[in-house]
Amino acid sequence: MKSQDIFISISEYLQLVEAEINTQADLIVKSWTQNGNQGVHIDRVVHHLIDKPGKMLRPALVLLSAGMAGWDPAGEAKELNSSLVKLAAAVELIHSASLIHDDIIDDEQMRRGQSALHRKHGNQTAVLVGDILYAQSFSLITSLKLPSWDRHLAIYQLYCDTTRDMCLGEIIEQRAIDENLSLEFSDYLNILKNKTAVLMSACCHSGAILAGADADTAQHLADFGLAFGLAFQLLDDHKDKDALIKGDMNIVEKALQQLSRARTILGKMTDSSYRDELIRACDFVLSAVGVTQT
Ligand code: FPP
Ligand code: MG
Repeated sequence: MKSQDIFISISEYLQLVEAEINTQADLIVKSWTQNGNQGVHIDRVVHHLIDKPGKMLRPALVLLSAGMAGWDPAGEAKELNSSLVKLAAAVELIHSASLIHDDIIDDEQMRRGQSALHRKHGNQTAVLVGDILYAQSFSLITSLKLPSWDRHLAIYQLYCDTTRDMCLGEIIEQRAIDENLSLEFSDYLNILKNKTAVLMSACCHSGAILAGADADTAQHLADFGLAFGLAFQLLDDHKDKDALIKGDMNIVEKALQQLSRARTILGKMTDSSYRDELIRACDFVLSAVGVTQT
């Protein structure tokens, strides 16, 4: 199931986000062909993952958090609406770049029901496609048209910090795997925080900043995203029987605790359809791995 089917209040915007991602992939190809170069191979490698969209959870977090912070699609200036779509597309591009690189690191065979990019086109090409998508996402963030430089710079800085932390998380995870380390739960959770949860937190935080949230609201949404992201990765690791999980870690219970924290944060915030849909996102990550909450 995709976000468009779950998050009704933003389904139209999620379609715009998908279209924007495609536009960005086409722009990458055009930057090559406009100089008279043959573009078939570049088109194939750049579109390989983009043409198979995932659940689009991260763009949904950006849009719903903007809604929580007062974004009203009908009432806003067109420029702000289109900047929000661009921001949501940029985070999905960052996510796509990170998956391409992660699949090389993990030497994964498949991604989204097809060969992982590096399996089809080689590690060298896959590293570079990830780099291009990553660069394009920052180009999109640069192009946002926001009411103030402060908001723009805050979002830019947030994604610089976030992508740095994601890489650090992956490095520490790799060391634990290579050296067959037996991690304490707190060290394991710290890896999940960096490689996954900080991006989900940034999605919520940046959506709120873009919509002009006050500092408290922005922080609540960042905290929600962090707890949500931890629960998401814990459940994903539980599903994949991740090598770093030890028998006594009670992963599902720990994920439920994070989801409970996420729901508590939302419970303190103003009631709205956006809030209902963020709560639904919590149910969605549980159902995606077949866990039922008693
Ligand atoms: C999936 O983990 C991987 C991530 C959540 C993050 C990967 C991050 C990087 C490679 C560093 C950042 C890179 C860029 C370009 C920003 P997993 O292997 O547990 O999940 P999986 O089962 O989906 O592979
Ligand atoms: Mg992986």
